[in-house]
Amino acid sequence: MAIGIFDSGLGGLTVLDAAQSRLPQMEFLYYADSANAPYGVRTPEDIQKLTERAVKNLWYRGCNLVILACNTASAVALRRMQEAGVPNGKRVLGVFVPLIETLTERKWGDNSAPREVAIKDVALFATPATVASRAFQREFAFRAIGVDVEAQACAGVVDAIENGDMILAEGLVRSHVEALKRKMPNPEAAVLGCTHYPLLADAFKKALGKSVTIICQGNLVANSLADYLDRHQDMVGDGLAGFLTTGNTQKMTEQATRFLGRPIFFEAV
Ligand code: DGL
Repeated sequence: MAIGIFDSGLGGLTVLDAAQSRLPQMEFLYYADSANAPYGVRTPEDIQKLTERAVKNLWYRGCNLVILACNTASAVALRRMQEAGVPNGKRVLGVFVPLIETLTERKWGDNSAPREVAIKDVALFATPATVASRAFQREFAFRAIGVDVEAQACAGVVDAIENGDMILAEGLVRSHVEALKRKMPNPEAAVLGCTHYPLLADAFKKALGKSVTIICQGNLVANSLADYLDRHQDMVGDGLAGFLTTGNTQKMTEQATRFLGRPIFFEAV
């Protein structure tokens, strides 16, 4: 009885962890396309193709509902997948909308006209492909007016995390925050718009300073998933729970165990 959770690699574990805490009875099947990570430097065509392949694999394994716990896939590939139509009884959802709904003070499905919201200056840290897609700004503009969003494409960060080089990853965070601050010196809030980045939340906090509220997606997505499952009980599928990777199972097992602080075992897709 598993919900599918997909990411290019380790980042989706930040969403999985929050979802498991919020829904302790629920089973999850995690799929990391580590052989093809990072997605954030790939072309939109590539991201589309790889995301569709992974989602179909999770559907095939019995997951009725697949969460794209990857902003890059959500920003670049989700809309086309949904518009093309999904098989009967299957669904795919992204991580963007719960985040934007929270920032714009909306409940699920509130499609009323854009209005003023409390927040005015938002810094977005995301992968180059997410930033280039402008999906965050587009979703924001549907719901809010008068919000200034400054985006910083954080090249190299996902690669460093996937390679286990956290020193390099932290150094890159510092330089991306400096670059953002040159464009927007005093953001009110910083959105960690890549599911890998909460693994570096302390580095972001330190570089941004105490006055900036850091927004991570894990809990927002977990709450929104709980809400969704209340309304759609049939979306719990019959797949088996576990952890799958297209990459090196031992490396993923070690890294995931370290990040989540509990034993995790990855198997080959
Ligand atoms: N965790 C993915 C995201 O949220 C990382 C994408 C990548 O592989 O570059 O965007």
